Amino acid sequence: MFVGRFAAFLLITLVGTFLVLAPTSSVEAADKQKYKYTGNKGCKCHLSPGVWEGDEWKQIDHSKAFKRLQTDEEKKDPKCLKCHTTGYGGKFKNPKETYLEDVTCEACHGPGEAYSELKNNYQGKGKKAFNELLEKDPMAARKAQYDAGLIVAGINNASGKVKDQCLECHWEDPNDPEKCPKCDKDDKGNPIAMNFDEYFKKDDHRDLDTIDEVIKKMSDGDKAKWKGCIERDPILNTPIKPEAKGKKKAVAED
Ligand code: HEC
Ligand code: HEC
Ligand code: HEC
Repeated sequence: MFVGRFAAFLLITLVGTFLVLAPTSSVEAADKQKYKYTGNKGCKCHLSPGVWEGDEWKQIDHSKAFKRLQTDEEKKDPKCLKCHTTGYGGKFKNPKETYLEDVTCEACHGPGEAYSELKNNYQGKGKKAFNELLEKDPMAARKAQYDAGLIVAGINNASGKVKDQCLECHWEDPNDPEKCPKCDKDDKGNPIAMNFDEYFKKDDHRDLDTIDEVIKKMSDGDKAKWKGCIERDPILNTPIKPEAKGKKKAVAED
C-alpha cells in the first residue's frame, strides 16, 4: 500500500539522517580528525602572564600530568598516554609527534591548527583582524572559532554537558574497571573518583567577557539564530571564581 510504503521510506530516510548526524565523541576520533594538534609553544594570547585561563591551567595538575608517568614502560604504555597526554593516537602539525605531554588546552578544546590560523591571520588580514571582529561582533567571532574546530564543553561538544568531556579521563565510580590503575585512595583514605561539581569548581577558568553581556540581552529570535554558540550546560551560568575577576584579556599583539 502507498501509505505503508511511504511510511517505510520516511522511516528509512529519518533513521539514515540520524545516523549521519549522530554525534561523535567531543574530541574527534583520530581517523576522522579534521585539524591537527599544534601544541602550546608560541601561544602568546591566552598564555601570557596575568591572563586567567592560562594562569589557572598552570596552577592545576593537568599541566603536570605527564610527570606522573615515571618509568620508560609507563611513558610508552598506550593506556597511560591516553589520559596523561594530549592527542594520543591523533594527527599532529609536527609529524614526528605522537602525543603532547600533559593535559593541555587542546585535550579539551580540540586540535588547534585551524583555530590558530584564524586568530593569527583572519581572512588573510593579519593578527589584528580577529581582535577587530571580536569587538565588532563577538557572536560572529565565537562562531568563526567553532567553525575552525574549537570545542567548548557545555556549549558545542556533542552532548552539551561539560561533565561528559571530563569523563573521557575521569570516573565517578571508584570501582570503574577503566579507571586509572594508579588511583586507589587519597591521602585521607577516601577512594579516588570524580565528584563533578567539586572538580569543576577546582578547575574552572571561566571569566567575564563582553560576550556574556551580549548573550544575556539576546532576544529569543537571536538565540535561535546563534544556536550551537550559546551555553547549554547550566553549570556554565554559576558564579565564576573570585580570582577570575578583573584579569587581563587575551589579545593578540604584533
Ligand atoms: C582513564 C584515564 C587514566 C588512565 C588510563 C591512567 N590514568 Fe593515571 N590518572 C588519571 C586521573 C584522572 C588521575 C587523577 C585522579 C583524581 O585525582 O581524581 C590520575 C592520577 C595518576 C597518578 C597519581 C595517583 C595519586 O594517588 O595521586 C599516577 C601516579 C598515575 N595517574 C599514573 C598512571 C599510570 C602509570 C598509568 C598507566 C598504567 C595511568 N596513570 C593510567 C587518569 C588516568
Ligand atoms: C580539562 C579541560 C580543559 C582544559 C585542559 C582547558 N580548558 Fe579551557 N575551558 C574548559 C571548559 C569546560 C570551559 C568552560 C566553558 C565556558 O567557559 O563557557 C573552558 C573555557 C575556556 C575559555 C572561555 C572562558 C570564559 O570566559 O568563558 C577560554 C578562553 C579557555 N577555556 C582557554 C583555555 C586555554 C588557553 C587552555 C590551556 C592553557 C585551556 N582552556 C585548557 C575546559 C578546559
Ligand atoms: C585528557 C584527559 C583529561 C580530561 C579530558 C580531563 N582531565 Fe582532569 N585530570 C586528568 C589527569 C591525568 C589528572 C591527574 C593529574 C596529576 O595529578 O598529575 C587530572 C586531574 C584533575 C584534577 C585534580 C587537579 C588538582 O590540581 O588537584 C581536577 C580538579 C580535574 N582533573 C578536573 C577536570 C575537569 C573538571 C574536567 C572536565 C572539564 C577534566 N578534569 C578533564 C586528565 C583529564
